[in-house]
Amino acid sequence: MKILSFSDLHVDYNSAELKRDLTGEIADCIKRIAPDRVIVAGDMAGGAERCIRYIEEIQERSGVPLSYVPGNHSIWAASKDGDSWQQYERLRAHPSSLIDKPLALTDEWVLVGDMGWYDYSFGLTQKTRAEIVKDKSMIWKDSVMARWGMEDEELTDRMLDKLRKQFEQLRGKRIVFANHFIPYVDYAPLSQRPEHPMGKVWNMIRPFMGSTKLGEQLDQYENIEYVIFGHKHWRHGVEERNGKQIVCNPLGYVKEWVTDDFATEIRSAATLIEL
Ligand SMILES: [Fe+2]
Ligand SMILES: [Fe+2]
Repeated sequence: MKILSFSDLHVDYNSAELKRDLTGEIADCIKRIAPDRVIVAGDMAGGAERCIRYIEEIQERSGVPLSYVPGNHSIWAASKDGDSWQQYERLRAHPSSLIDKPLALTDEWVLVGDMGWYDYSFGLTQKTRAEIVKDKSMIWKDSVMARWGMEDEELTDRMLDKLRKQFEQLRGKRIVFANHFIPYVDYAPLSQRPEHPMGKVWNMIRPFMGSTKLGEQLDQYENIEYVIFGHKHWRHGVEERNGKQIVCNPLGYVKEWVTDDFATEIRSAATLIEL
């Protein structure tokens, strides 16, 4: 069983930047690698409708089934589109969704996933909660576009509760887990030059990168053998940690790439997992 993992394809933004539709080239990359299934760990595009359109196009053009969990961009909602729960529900109802629906890959292996969220735990050693909330309103677009009607910590806890129930039911299985956000604080950006303008921004967005509670929860289950996430646009490839294979290998935005060649970048962001 071969699983091909991606995250943060940002197809809308990157297609606009490169002035062409990238779904065909993404499908070509998938066809060349020929996996049994593709998993995309969030941020396919902005808003549920666009995510679904790209999911279906990539699936159709590659001929390979695609599983999806939303990222923060996926649930962005302008006020005319209702709130973020409506975006989340639309993605949840789509056949590609892993939300509340673990997918048996083989008799042995199961794919489990959800969006996840962030709870400021990555920033609370540097700043107070009030400072983090103020930073969020100044620089983080989720403050306007991600509208849940609850605090970020409560949303994170809801995500963790749903996942814990699934992990408990799947104790006899080997698990590939995917969510959008960072589970381990050492993957969160922390600038060594906090006075530098870019360093300042990195440290300001750190609280919105993930949750230490997620990592603690994952570490309670030895049968979770693969942990896939993105959100941070920095490619680590695959690394081993506490007996788990950690996959953080997002595509990210054109301006963040090393080359200006899409085929090279999408290939470098494609991670093959052989079970
Ligand atoms: Fe992203
Ligand atoms: Fe993201």
